[in-house]
Amino acid sequence: IDAALSDGPLKGKHVLVTSGPTHEPIDPVRYIANRSSGAQGTAIAKALLALGAKVTFVTGPADVPPPAGVRVIAVETANEMLDAVIGSSPADAAVFAAAVADWHVANAGDSKIKKDKSGLPKLEFAENPDILATVSQMKTGRPALVVGFAAETDDVIANATAKRLRKGCDWIVANDVSPSTGIMGGSENDVTLITADGAEDWPRMSKDATAAELATRIAKAIT
Ligand code: CTP
Ligand code: CA
Repeated sequence: IDAALSDGPLKGKHVLVTSGPTHEPIDPVRYIANRSSGAQGTAIAKALLALGAKVTFVTGPADVPPPAGVRVIAVETANEMLDAVIGSSPADAAVFAAAVADWHVANAGDSKIKKDKSGLPKLEFAENPDILATVSQMKTGRPALVVGFAAETDDVIANATAKRLRKGCDWIVANDVSPSTGIMGGSENDVTLITADGAEDWPRMSKDATAAELATRIAKAIT
């Protein structure tokens, strides 16, 4: 890590970032997943690094490569992501930018399902652990600042405000990811930061600029 960077306001602070999608196997060749390029999570990790933080980057199979200079833990499933997050705790702050699959396939098999065998497969789903809620509600060793994301298509502010309270995190970065916004897969974001003090609408800007602003806020909050 560059000496100049490690002298920033987050010098000596450990920040955990989750990013990318998770993949939940159906069989050895198929999976279910959420859509996520990993672009926003990667930009956040870079911005935290630029302020001098030590960053642990827990990432699912993303399109964007992880930034240089962070400690990368590559995972595939939500359960693996939870284990990696717990295993790299404690942290001073944690940012949950991953698009975690809400369910895994409970009857996933070790052998490939053949389509000509016995008609359509009957997948059974089981709920995945909520990593953000688990960390937010830790009795000991909770990060001083826990930041979640809420990618919504309807009633963005109301849904995200309720999500912040339900999960017990400090901040929620909310955005409207309806296809017409072009945000999913694009280079820009348009977010509202929801804290205990209310909702703050940020201008539409690049994912890098959004990340820089968030990292600056995090530094102010924990130093
Ligand atoms: N999250 C998580 N673990 C999960 C699901 C979500 O850590 N199993 C985190 C995401 O990384 C994000 C936040 O929780 O920071 C909100 O995710 P979201 O999918 O919007 O919330 P859910 O509670 O899953 O609600 P829903 O998908 O029904 O809107
Ligand atoms: Ca979800």
